[in-house]
Amino acid sequence: MGKYKLFKIPNHVSIIMDGNGRWAKRRGLPRYEGHRQGAKTLENILKFASDMGLKWLSVFAFSTENWNRPKEEIDVIMSLLVEYINTKLNKLLERNIRLRFMGRIDKLSEELQKSIKKGEEATKNCNGLNFVITLNYSGRAEIIDAVNKILKGDRKNITLEEFQKYLYIPEMPEPDLLIRTSGELRISNYMLWELAYTELYFTDVLWPDFSEEEFLKALYVYQFRERRFGSV
Ligand code: IPE
Ligand code: IPE
Ligand code: MG
Repeated sequence: MGKYKLFKIPNHVSIIMDGNGRWAKRRGLPRYEGHRQGAKTLENILKFASDMGLKWLSVFAFSTENWNRPKEEIDVIMSLLVEYINTKLNKLLERNIRLRFMGRIDKLSEELQKSIKKGEEATKNCNGLNFVITLNYSGRAEIIDAVNKILKGDRKNITLEEFQKYLYIPEMPEPDLLIRTSGELRISNYMLWELAYTELYFTDVLWPDFSEEEFLKALYVYQFRERRFGSV
């Protein structure tokens, strides 16, 4: 891995983990096998990110639009999530990783909500990597949910800084780098507010094939991006 020299580590890397279904299809397997393999990929990347000292890693696990998929596929994704939280908690604690979720969590199954609470509660004092799983999430829903929270109060106007306090995780810094796998060149309603000045990186690699080396490659490309934030 020495060929990728890093001189600046982003503070927050976010990933749209895409291509599980195509990965499975290419192997003549059912789509859920792609999700199973994708969960393993996530475990590797999480460990790698935590070892390299990254502060925030967020991943798109399930969108509000993904409910349009066949029920069997949704069931597998949800049970993988429950299994993930329940079996990996010790590992997360060992690595000092704080687990957090964002999205319309109250619309998920009781079982999953229980695991989510357990996972967040157990790791709340960890101060290593912040690992955010976005679940039943969409960028527009997050903005609308924020607006509805605001409408409950008696505000007549709001500043940018104040608006941010109504997002799902107000203290989450905006992603510096967004990675999307599987060759799709779109945002798919992900973090619309937060991605305003994020550097984008797209790769054709399907998520189940995404390796530590691929992750390093993305970080390496980021080294040469010049971020101007509208200035000169
Ligand atoms: C991403 O892989 C995982 C989820 C959206 C839950 P896909 O399941 O979208 O895989 P493709 O895009 O169909 O290959
Ligand atoms: C985005 O992928 C959502 C997740 C990775 C969870 P999709 O596969 O759902 O996005 P589209 O349908 O290709 O835009
Ligand atoms: Mg997809």
